[in-house]
Formats: sequence, C-alpha cells, structure tokens
Amino acid sequence: MKLFIDSGNIKDIETLAAIGIIDGVTTNPTLLSKEPGDYRDNLKKICQIVKGPVSGEVTATDFAGMMREGHDIAHIDSYMVVKVPLTRDGIKACKALSGEGIRVNVTLCFSAAQALLAAKAGASYISPFVGRLDDVATNGMELVREIVEIYDNYEFPTEVLVASCRHPIHIVEAARMGADICTCPPAVIDQLFNHPLTAIGLEKFLKDWEKAHEAVKA
Ligand code: E4P
Repeated sequence: MKLFIDSGNIKDIETLAAIGIIDGVTTNPTLLSKEPGDYRDNLKKICQIVKGPVSGEVTATDFAGMMREGHDIAHIDSYMVVKVPLTRDGIKACKALSGEGIRVNVTLCFSAAQALLAAKAGASYISPFVGRLDDVATNGMELVREIVEIYDNYEFPTEVLVASCRHPIHIVEAARMGADICTCPPAVIDQLFNHPLTAIGLEKFLKDWEKAHEAVKA
C-alpha cells in the first residue's frame, strides 16, 4: 500500500520524504491556505521533493471553471494530479480531463454509489473521507471495503485513496482491505513508528551492552 502525506507544509513534507517511505502528497484548499507564499510555487516545490503524485484541488464549482483550473494545476508539474469534488460538474470535468490524459483525484466521496461514478468517469484516484464519516457516527472503513469490492468486481483501474485518516488503525485496516493508498497528516504518519515495547526493548539492549563493556574494562 502506498503512503501519501496529507499536507501543504514544505518542512513536514521534506522531513518525512527524507525517510524514504512517502509515495505522494495530497493537498486541499484548507491545507494550502495555511501556508505562506504562492500556492503554485508551493505545489511545484512539493513535486520536486516527493517526485510522486501531488494532488492540487480546483476551487471552481462549475464545469468550465474546473476545466480552466484543472489545466492550470496540471501545468504546474508533470507530477500534479487534479483534484475535483464529487459533484455532477466534478464528474463531468473528471471525464473530460482524464480523456486528455490528465490524472484526476475525485475528492469528498462519502458513498459507494459516488465511487462508482468516479470510476466510470475515468478517475485515477477516488478519495473516500473515512474520518469525516466516523465523525457523523458512520463507519468510514466500511465504505472503503465496499469500494474495494466494487472496483475489484469490475477491474476498474481507479486507485482507492483512503483520505481523512485520523489514526494508525485507519491505516492498518485500509491495508488489510487492500486499499491502494492512505493519505495521512504528518502527525499520524509519525504515530506509525511508535510502540512502547520497541522503546523499552532498545533501552534494555543498550544498557546490557554498556554493562558488558564496563565489566570487560574492570
Ligand atoms: C484528502 O485528500 C483530504 O485532503 C483530507 O484527507 C481531508 O482530511 P480531514 O477530514 O482531516 O480534513
């Protein structure tokens, strides 16, 4: 399963990318609006750091506007993926942009029916928002299971990009279900490294090693 960073913060992206486990980045208007500087320059920098798919979202809500902004975003860098919302105009723009060879990530997906439309429109990625479903007392991971099943049934090439991940269990469940990608905030990726037994075990190994060397010296 691929791991994407859900952030527009260059420093966070640089730090995690340097470890060598990051396959791509997703952004959205909220994330990009938190960062200083021109958003196009920031997206360009992110592409140079990660050298993998980087999603930039349109803010137009009509078909013509989405097409215009989609072309603009696609021209930033060859790694750019155009993100469109799962609306009628978004699905129409997905079909048209995909037809031109531009990769499209259909975002704000909250049902399997919506995911089916995105696949039929040639989306490269579908983004079910699991955390936001959990927030309204609906199991977000069940939606991922349904989408993976439907895409497998018909061999749709659209990749399932699990979004709005809030904790490591989302990531582990996504991997067990066979989702293609998880996109997570940097803090959630950091949590993946942690296990108290690893810390305790390492401390003991180092202490024993030190003790043995002191004994040899004495
Ligand atoms: C994904 O592409 C979105 O940017 C993101 O995962 C939304 O997450 P949130 O629900 O935590 O804002």
